[in-house]
Amino acid sequence: MGNVTVKTLQDLKENGEKFCCITAYDATFSRLISEAGAETMLVGDSLGMVLQGHDSTVPVTLDDMAYHTECVARGNRGALVIADMPFMAYSTPEQTLDSATALMQAGAHMVKMEGGTWLSESIQMLVQRGTPVCAHLGLTPQSVNVFGGYRVQGRTPKGAKSILADAVEIQDAGASLLVLECVPTPLATDISEKLRIPVIGIGAGPGTDAQVLVMHDMLGLSEHNARFVQNFMTGQDSIQGALKAFVGAVKSGSYPRTEHGYE
Ligand code: KIV
Repeated sequence: MGNVTVKTLQDLKENGEKFCCITAYDATFSRLISEAGAETMLVGDSLGMVLQGHDSTVPVTLDDMAYHTECVARGNRGALVIADMPFMAYSTPEQTLDSATALMQAGAHMVKMEGGTWLSESIQMLVQRGTPVCAHLGLTPQSVNVFGGYRVQGRTPKGAKSILADAVEIQDAGASLLVLECVPTPLATDISEKLRIPVIGIGAGPGTDAQVLVMHDMLGLSEHNARFVQNFMTGQDSIQGALKAFVGAVKSGSYPRTEHGYE
């Protein structure tokens, strides 16, 4: 496959073909994941948990994200690299521009920000200045202290309506992708059908355009796993085999299954 771009992902959605995203934090796994055929890699601030041992993503800094984005960019073999803007790194317009500059200059092709309508102006500003944006709605882990824990979002009619309204607004502001985390399957399916831009699900059921998992979770390395995680090392004798099994399962629609989603 040639280098994946925003247009590649948009074309996949328009053709009804699913695509994959796996988190990556270093050059070796970046090479393995991109060679396994994942169209996108996310330098997730989940590195605060899986690499640094924190219990949330809140302590992760912009320097941490820039460092790991550089590592991933060096190992990449053609995937589109998305880098997370960390906690409080996009609270003001100046900060947003500085943070996005650091991540794009570290080698990201797109930045990801958690939040809804309040991000519209930031999204417009970044896109106008040449930085594609992936938005993130539902369970947005940087807000764990507001939510009072890692809980499924959008379960009430009011909550679902608000997530759908946020999704439409961030699309209209110019976002290229949307991550939907831990929302009921019917809501995620509805949003994916209503939006023009591709929706990447995690704990959002089988109806989204793409899937993302934290690499350590899908390789069976994590201590605790949510119900939507499948251990792709099962039945494989190599990490490369497990990565390819995940990519194949997402593309064929055999992962995630109904039991991986929430009602
Ligand atoms: O930080 C991360 O890895 C993420 C994914 C869980 C979507 O945001």
